[in-house]
Parts: sequence; C-alpha cells; structure tokens
Amino acid sequence: MVYKTVELKDGRVATLDWLRESDLPELVEVLNSVIREGKYLFMNNEITDMEEERRWYKQGKREGMLYLITRMDGKIVGGASIRPYTDKRSHVAEFGIFIREGYRNLGLGTMLTNIFAEVAEKHGFEVLQLSVYATNERAFHVYTKCGYRECGRLTQDIKFLDGPYTDRILMELILKQ
Ligand SMILES: CC(C)(COP(=O)(O)OP(=O)(O)OC[C@H]1O[C@@H](n2cnc3c(N)ncnc32)[C@H](O)[C@@H]1OP(=O)(O)O)[C@@H](O)C(=O)NCCC(=O)NCCS
Repeated sequence: MVYKTVELKDGRVATLDWLRESDLPELVEVLNSVIREGKYLFMNNEITDMEEERRWYKQGKREGMLYLITRMDGKIVGGASIRPYTDKRSHVAEFGIFIREGYRNLGLGTMLTNIFAEVAEKHGFEVLQLSVYATNERAFHVYTKCGYRECGRLTQDIKFLDGPYTDRILMELILKQ
C-alpha cells in the first residue's frame, strides 16, 4: 500500500511505501550498488547473506524500526529509516538514508528527511541522531537544511579503502525540548 506519493524537482513522481520482507532482495541490490561506490556507507563488502538480512528485518520490526522505501517506475531507488535505541535512550532514534546513483539531487533525500522528522514526532521520539562523513557535503547540506545540527565530530573515524581518512560528524534533531 502506498504511504505517500511525492513529486520530484524534475516533475517525475515517486512513491513511498513501508518496507516489507518481500522487498528485501531488491532493496539489497540497491544498497549493494551504494556500497560499491565506497564513499558513503560504513560497509566495505556487499550484502550477500539473505538469511542474515531477513533476521535483521525481523529484529528491526520487533525493536520498532520504521523503514520507508522509495519507488520510481516500480523500481526501488532508495530508502530511509529510523531505529529506536532502548532503555534510558528509548526516546532517541537513529536516522539513516540512501538514494541510488542516478536518482540523487531530485529532492527525494530532503523529502524523506523531513517526512521522518514528522513520523518520529508522531511516534513520540524526542531526538533523532545520525552521523555523516565530513566528505559527504551533499548529505551534510540536506541534514542541515532539514534542521539537524552538528553536535560532535570523530576525527579520522573513517579510513577509505583507497587510503584517505575522513572525520565522522555527529548530528542531532531535537523534536521535543
Ligand atoms: C545524501 C542523499 C540522501 C541526499 O538525497 P538527495 O535526494 O540526493 O538530496 P536532495 O535532492 O533532496 O538535495 C540535494 C541537495 O544537496 C545539494 N548538493 C548537491 N551536491 C552537493 C555538494 N557536493 N555539496 C553541497 N551540496 C550539494 C543540492 O544542491 C541540493 O540542495 P538544495 O535542495 O538546497 O538545492 C543522497 O544523495 C544519497 O543517498 N547519497 C549517497 C548515500 C548517502 O550519502 N547516504 C547518507 C549517508 S550519511
């Protein structure tokens, strides 16, 4: 069932749906394409173990993960999620997002980031947190535009496979003071 239909900067339309277990093979294929780029995500290796992926999905559901996938022309082109922490941090959730190459700079990332701030608020979360590589200026720009603020920095936290280091910037969006 379509959660929302959104219009992109170029006039094309994308749909947002809650992730289902049956979407996992296609989602993994898209995620792997971003992992292969080597610049944005933590993982060095592509996801190959679908059983592990299904376990991740089921555990995420149990723990209150909310995950939207974006489709254009019927194909998954990106996803975003919030995943709650537990115990004394259960008012906090971690936000994550990726858009497939070829579908970036069309406004999707901004829309998903804003939508998840609303979704998180509706679900009673008070703080959203994320981290972004200092080299990922586009992502940093989008998060800042959507109200996140830099609240810390881990120096040389990331070492790319081809050698250089980058800092990891911690960002937060306070939903309830
Ligand atoms: C980061 C990401 C989620 C943003 O989504 P998107 O759909 O491309 O973003 P949008 O189209 O909504 O907005 C892009 C904005 O960045 C700006 N931008 C593009 N390249 C930029 C750059 N190198 N530096 C700064 N800003 C840049 C665009 O001008 C646009 O700004 P505007 O809307 O204020 O004009 C997406 O590009 C992506 O998934 N990238 C690869 C994976 C990734 O980085 N995930 C996040 C890890 S923390």
